[in-house]
Amino acid sequence: MYRQAQWSEPVIFSLGKAGRVGHILPSVEEDVKKAVGDLYGLIPEKMRRENPLRLPELSEPEVVRHFMRLSEMNYGVDSGIYPLGSCTMKYNPKINEALANMPTIGLVHPYQDERTVQGILEILYKLERWLAEITGTAEVCLQPAAGAHGEFLGACLIRAYHKHKGELGKRQDILIPDSAHGTNPASAAMAGFNVVVIPSNDNGCVNVEALRAAVSDKTAGLMLTNPNTLGIFEQNIEEIAKIVHNAGGLLYYDGANLNPILCKVRPGDMGFDIVHINIHKTFGTPHGGGGPGAGPIGVSEELAKFLPVPRIVFDGKSYRLDYDRPHTIGKIRGFYGNVAVLVKAYAYILSLGFDGLKEVAEVSVLNANYVLHKLKALDGLTLPYNSEKPKKHECVFSVKPLKNKTGVSALNIAKRLLDYGVHAPTIYFPLIVEEALMIEPTETFEKEELDRFVEAIREICREAQTNPEKVLKAPYNTAISRLDEAKASHPKTMALSWRMYQKKQAAANP
Ligand SMILES: Cc1ncc(COP(=O)(O)O)c(C=O)c1O
Repeated sequence: MYRQAQWSEPVIFSLGKAGRVGHILPSVEEDVKKAVGDLYGLIPEKMRRENPLRLPELSEPEVVRHFMRLSEMNYGVDSGIYPLGSCTMKYNPKINEALANMPTIGLVHPYQDERTVQGILEILYKLERWLAEITGTAEVCLQPAAGAHGEFLGACLIRAYHKHKGELGKRQDILIPDSAHGTNPASAAMAGFNVVVIPSNDNGCVNVEALRAAVSDKTAGLMLTNPNTLGIFEQNIEEIAKIVHNAGGLLYYDGANLNPILCKVRPGDMGFDIVHINIHKTFGTPHGGGGPGAGPIGVSEELAKFLPVPRIVFDGKSYRLDYDRPHTIGKIRGFYGNVAVLVKAYAYILSLGFDGLKEVAEVSVLNANYVLHKLKALDGLTLPYNSEKPKKHECVFSVKPLKNKTGVSALNIAKRLLDYGVHAPTIYFPLIVEEALMIEPTETFEKEELDRFVEAIREICREAQTNPEKVLKAPYNTAISRLDEAKASHPKTMALSWRMYQKKQAAANP
């Protein structure tokens, strides 16, 4: 069993005391002063701050204690198994963090003269080439800051392509399977397209007949992840590509599930025209809490001219930023993307090499099928969609039979798992599986840790049969027990910051 630390730790704004100092910044050197002049005077008067910023005032030990306590009430991928399906939460080698933190990386500025940042430009250029090789695409753009951001860029590229051909007026439909992640339809809609949902067949793959019936001269493209969110590799991918291409549409690859096929097969070779890569899933960056991440896009030769600027180019001697791209869709993000995250990916790929990446894919599939095999034997869990077929990186169980019999739902299992020191798997996704538990063990957890996870689920299923009340009220061992989920997410009651909380409290108690 697990027991999380419980501190009644206030927010940092209510710690410390006015006038207390944690760090004193060095004063500006005379020669800098001389070269730059009066810094304050450089800020236009109407933009100057009228009151000092309301920052907490604390000593260094207070800051350290505060964050240490918070970290003790946290659970991360370095604490234990984190089988969050669709998210590839894996161990991130610390050497990559150390490299990204080197002053020669961390302290360079995007406005520096190109001649003074040749090293980082070389890293980014080479990373683009490696990702192009891994995905089977012609060119890669590193700018997007997340998978969903990459999807949005991809959808904008689909627009640019059809606009260039003079067909945007009629090509307004993006086709998306019903097993897709919610960001796919959201990205397509944000780029101005209509979303057409394609049902899955009994094997959990795209229903090819339904796809054939849905394509038309209105089709702008299809967004697909392969293997899909059920962990199933689309057997008919070549046929799917042919149907979409013959209709004049483009094929978009959601790369959230690239991990299990790394260096085995390439989306470009399957017929995809645009591919996004979730760097923070596949290439080793911690991505809990929403970021920072990176969602580079790879594209076919035909689409490369539409990519955002600047492009990093190499003339055999030096690297340069090229803004002169007449067909570019413009910029999608400031500068060149989340560079620290990209450096970690560079280090990750360099340290593993082709064979190492291939092993990542193999072990992630092996682990998923090991867990699947063990859990399949449990009473109350079923494996919808072709239960006999091995899966790729993840498996999606339904706990509907257990819920019908005991009242214990996927949510309750997820909560109770926390008491066992196991991060909960993804639940209620994909939407086509009722009471879904979506499990992705990844390659980085040992057999003993996988066994511990399986044992915890087995024990919870046993508890559900013998003492369901216990599971229904879990967790007990975490810093915070069960939250009121409606209040935590309702616009009237949720508080995204301390100031928002204070305002809501003041409004509620005038
Ligand atoms: C299948 C799939 N596609 C897209 C995304 C979006 O990626 P991001 O969270 O980096 O925006 C996710 C995120 O979990 C995902 O699982």
